[in-house]
Amino acid sequence: MILVFGSLNVDLLVPVGRLPSPGETVLGGDYGLLPGGKGANQALAARRAGAMVAMAGAVGTDAFAEVALARLRDAGVDLDLVRRTARPTGCAAIMVGADGENLIAVASGANHDARAADIPDAVLRPQTLVLCQMEVPAEESWSLLRRAHQAGCRTMLNLAPATPLDPEVLGLLDILVANEGEAATLAAAPATVAARLGVGLIVTRGAAGVIAYRRDGSRLDTPALAINPVDTTGAGDTFTGVLAAGLDADLSLADAMRCGSAAAGLACLGPGAQNAMPDQAAISAAVLRLPRARPSLRRECAGIPRVPRGTGGA
Ligand code: RIB
Repeated sequence: MILVFGSLNVDLLVPVGRLPSPGETVLGGDYGLLPGGKGANQALAARRAGAMVAMAGAVGTDAFAEVALARLRDAGVDLDLVRRTARPTGCAAIMVGADGENLIAVASGANHDARAADIPDAVLRPQTLVLCQMEVPAEESWSLLRRAHQAGCRTMLNLAPATPLDPEVLGLLDILVANEGEAATLAAAPATVAARLGVGLIVTRGAAGVIAYRRDGSRLDTPALAINPVDTTGAGDTFTGVLAAGLDADLSLADAMRCGSAAAGLACLGPGAQNAMPDQAAISAAVLRLPRARPSLRRECAGIPRVPRGTGGA
């Protein structure tokens, strides 16, 4: 089971021909009001890949809350640990250019109220994989990761958006996922950071693929799918969620990375963070299109067990 502790947002998405410069106004196409938030995106990606997923975080009591929650609930993500607070549901303003690249600003709102104390100890079992990002208060994530580490859970942190990390936190983590910009903010070189983690540091590099720097000093390279991106929003979230689903299903790190990489490519083929997130069948077909894919990989990615739908709370 995967527990995601993180943000739930509504994304106000505006397609533009090119991203504006500071102080500039550009005219865009029709806007979309879509579910998002790095936590929610990763929870949905893992669920679509076949994992059993519970989400913990916070939304408001406003109309945006339902936009943020409905798709997760419909997919069978357990929402019992999502609290309602007096602040407005988190909202992200997103511009996406014709090349698929984006600019994002987040009004965190209710995400400020996400609390690790809402998560009962009973959820933190050795079979639980705990996945955090950096869009809820960092001290709440550290508190949860300390408890999870103590309880023998597997732990993952996606360093997005980039935040300074206390060395103590590295010692709580099995896997740290960062894009190249986020990885550049780390206080040490990738191999040095990886040596402090349980498993390793995974750096996503868009079309250049993904590198895992493992604790033992070895390095694993995974290629990206060759695509023409429509919208790269949520690609990193899709990678991270599907990687978590693969590890939760006991795939090897290499195979879980390949499933994540294929899924991230597919997620770029439609607008919005969650709209184009693939299901397990689409992922296991796409892994064969990765360079150097071996045929058995299709079977291995399909090995993420399908689970019955959970009950959605909140
Ligand atoms: O990673 C993409 C996400 O970042 C968007 O869905 C937006 O809500 C922000 O959290």
